[in-house]
Formats: sequence, C-alpha cells, structure tokens
Amino acid sequence: DAADPCVMVIFGGTGDLTHRKLMPALYNLQHEKRLPKHFAVVAVGRRNKDHETYRYEVYDSIKNYARFKLHEHTWSELRRRIYYQKFDFNNDIGYIRLNTFLQKLDEQYRTRGNRIYYLAVAPEYFAVIVEKLYLHGMARNSGSWQRLVIEKPFGRDLDSARQLNEKITAVFDESNIYRIDHYLGKEMLQNIMVIRFANMLFEPVWNNRFIDNIQILSCEKVGVGSRGGYYEQAGALRDMLQNHMLQLLTLTAIEPPAGLDTKSIRDEKVKVLRSLEQFTPELVEQNVVRGQYGPGIVDNEEVPGYRQEERVSPTSNTETFIALKAHIDNLRWAGVPFYIRTGKRMPVKTTEIIIQFKPLPKILYAREYGHLQPNILIIKIQPREGVFFQFNAKKPGTECNIVPVQMDYCQNCREGVNSPAAYERLLFDVMRGESTLFARWDEVEYAWKFVDNIAAAWQTRQPGFPNYPAGSWGPREAAALLAGDNRNRLYKGDIRT
Ligand code: BG6
Repeated sequence: DAADPCVMVIFGGTGDLTHRKLMPALYNLQHEKRLPKHFAVVAVGRRNKDHETYRYEVYDSIKNYARFKLHEHTWSELRRRIYYQKFDFNNDIGYIRLNTFLQKLDEQYRTRGNRIYYLAVAPEYFAVIVEKLYLHGMARNSGSWQRLVIEKPFGRDLDSARQLNEKITAVFDESNIYRIDHYLGKEMLQNIMVIRFANMLFEPVWNNRFIDNIQILSCEKVGVGSRGGYYEQAGALRDMLQNHMLQLLTLTAIEPPAGLDTKSIRDEKVKVLRSLEQFTPELVEQNVVRGQYGPGIVDNEEVPGYRQEERVSPTSNTETFIALKAHIDNLRWAGVPFYIRTGKRMPVKTTEIIIQFKPLPKILYAREYGHLQPNILIIKIQPREGVFFQFNAKKPGTECNIVPVQMDYCQNCREGVNSPAAYERLLFDVMRGESTLFARWDEVEYAWKFVDNIAAAWQTRQPGFPNYPAGSWGPREAAALLAGDNRNRLYKGDIRT
C-alpha cells in the first residue's frame, strides 16, 4: 500500500527522539522512495530558530543515525520539505499561526489537509496539545484525515492512563490514535507470529504439554544516561515492563487469530493480557525481584552507579532491573512459568525469547545416558536477529555419546544492517493508516492493571538498593527465582554458538 499525501507535524521537534529516530527514519524512507510524493514535515519546538538552522541540525542527525549513508541528492529532496515553527505548547496564538502555516503547506504540497500529529514531547503536554488542536479546528476535519501518534509513557498507572485516554479519545477516534511501542516495529517481533503460525513443526508443540518454561530477556549495557529526570519517575517497571516486555510476552503466547487483520490480532493480544495471573502482594514478594545498579565495570570501563547519575536522587529507590515469574491462566499455558528479565547496565545488549522444552521421559537414551539437554528454541530479537534451535545428536565416534547440537538461522548477523529501523516501519504504517503494530487502548489498560499490582506492593517495602554492580547479571535473587523452581538455567544470551 502506498502512503497517503500528508503533512507530518512533530511536537518536540528539537528533542532527542526527533533527532535520533524520527528524522533519520524519514530520511531512510526518502532513500527507499517510500515517502508520499506529496509530503512535508513541520517540527514544532519551543526554541527560536529558522527553517535553515533547523535543517542544518537535522542534516547532522541524519549523518549520524540514518541507516543509509547520507547522499546529497536524497538529502536535498527531503531537506526542502522540512520546516520549523516555534511556539509554546500552551499558547493559543502559536496554534493559530501553525494552522495557517499548515494550510499553506496543504496547498503547496497538495496534501489535502491530511495530518499526522506526532507527540514527541514530555507526557505532561500530551493532553494540552490534543485539546488545543481540537479547539483550533485542526482535528476531525471532514474530507481529510488527522492521525495522532503518541509516544510513551501513556500515563504512569491505570488511573492516569485512563484520564489521558479520555482526553485524547474526546478528540480523536480510536482508529486515528497510534500509541507507539517501538518494539512492535522491530523486524523479529513480527517474525514471532510467522514462526509459530507458518510452521507445522512449532505450533502443535507450542503449549504446556511440551514447553517447560519461557524466558523473555531484554538487557542493555547502557545506564540511564541523560534521561535521569524521566527515569526517576518511570523505573524499569514502567519504562520496559509495562510496554515492551509485555508485548514480547503477548506475541509469544497469543492464540491463533481468526485472521491477519488488525482487529483479529489485537483481540487475541488483549486476551493474553487479560489471562495474566494478577499479582497479589504475596506473589510480588515471591515472584518479583527488583534491582538497581551500583558502580561497576562495563566493557572494561568503570561506570557510576544509578544514584550517581545526572538528575538522579542520591537516595533514589527507582529500579533499573526487574525480573519476574508470570503465569498465563489459560488452557494452553497453565503451569508454564514465563520468566521475564530486563535491566540496564548488564554485561551485554540482547533481547531474546528462549523457549525451553520439557525433558524426555527417562527411557531409552535418557535412561542410558543420564541427563540429556532439553530442546531449546531461541527467537533472537536483537542485536542479532534470527532463530536458534538446540537438539540432541550422536557425537561422531565408535562410542555412543550424545551431545547437544545447534541450528542457528541468522537473519542478520551484522547487527542491524538489513532490518528497517523500527521507527521507519512505524512511521510508514501511520502514513498508510495501518495500525496493527500500535497498541490499542485495551492493551494499554490491561498492561497497566498488571503493573499497578506490582507497583502497589512495592510501595509498602523499601528495597535495599543498590543491589547489583553495573556490568553484572542483576541481583542474586533473580537467579534464585528459577533455582527455586528447580530450573537452574538462567539464559544470558550465551547459549548460541
Ligand atoms: C525505550 C526505553 O523505550 O527502550 C529505554 O525508554 C530503553 O530506556 C529502550 O533503553 C530500549 O530500546 P532498544 O530498541 O534499544 O532495545
């Protein structure tokens, strides 16, 4: 499908996200000739600058972050379609001027009044911008479409998310709201469903009769960097678990949808979230581990602890790591633990879904040769993308020795080179009105319900932070979660050949 003509307005046009992700994504789309022919982009920010200065800054960002090498001809095609407008998001006059400017662009670029409003701003501005867009007749115009793209965090708990949702749905229909979870734009996330539902081999064994446990892992080497102000309010629970980790879980556990259309897929995703076992305070105590990194060593370099980071309180109790054991209470998954782990300042950057199959009955080889390694399937999300499968085979030789061997499908061995960056895919989808890879309200709602129970239980107890050194695999208790279940193998992105 082709992308529709439109003007894209980015609120937060001078921010990090715009420079590191959005503009490079637009450049990549331009490079691939996938941007609509009739298209312009207006960055809105609070700083004073003219179009030329802004374009100059974008040039640098594209040089640093675009997937394709900057090519002057491609750049000049995009460059002239980029504009900058300065105003304060609370200021009505700014919206009136912006609207006049957009109408001019509509004519110049023949974009028919179609608009994408991308909110790449601090969450406290989400509601006010939407309200003012409505007030100034910039949303809900007949004969054209207006779509709202909203970054996370979508609220900080269920209550605030509901309030925000009421405000934005008063202006935009659900079908015109695109709640971004950039993990959904990652190449391998779409592959999860393909691997499951396009293979005779996997789907029949994708259940509690054959699968022992599933580990979902997303670790980062980086610390909190310059985002201390935001992160202090979020922590790993709201920054990673509420969105990215639960999306990974949902796609791994989803039932076959009735069709591949947006509604069928989203309906099934919501069913998984609704079936999640809800945590009581006792379950949080037993099955959830939180951590915060102290000073340590990552990549042979000494790095500060979280409490020493910029704009972080020296007595902060914000978690930078979370591990938990979740259950999905449905017939497919009853009894199968899903171990989820995510943290900052870990030894490697990796995101994987590890499916460990049940041990064989103790007969034949398993009786004769003792413990055999379980079958393991790993969906490698990033940085390397692919699928890994471990099974048992005879070691060559006169004796019968059984060893685990591996099949390792490498979709992208060269870390990120081939796969379109997540934002590129997602922006293109917004332009063509395809919303499957965005979170519907009820997904967000059920994810918050799950997360709120954990946050509530944590309120009543002080953590003993910091409890893991930077560059380690997190607090010891995280490994104990598995050991307590007699499942000792904590996968660490280390099983691949
Ligand atoms: C973002 C979080 O949503 O995802 C960051 O706010 C985190 O804290 C990032 O670093 C991880 O994304 P990726 O694509 O690098 O795994």
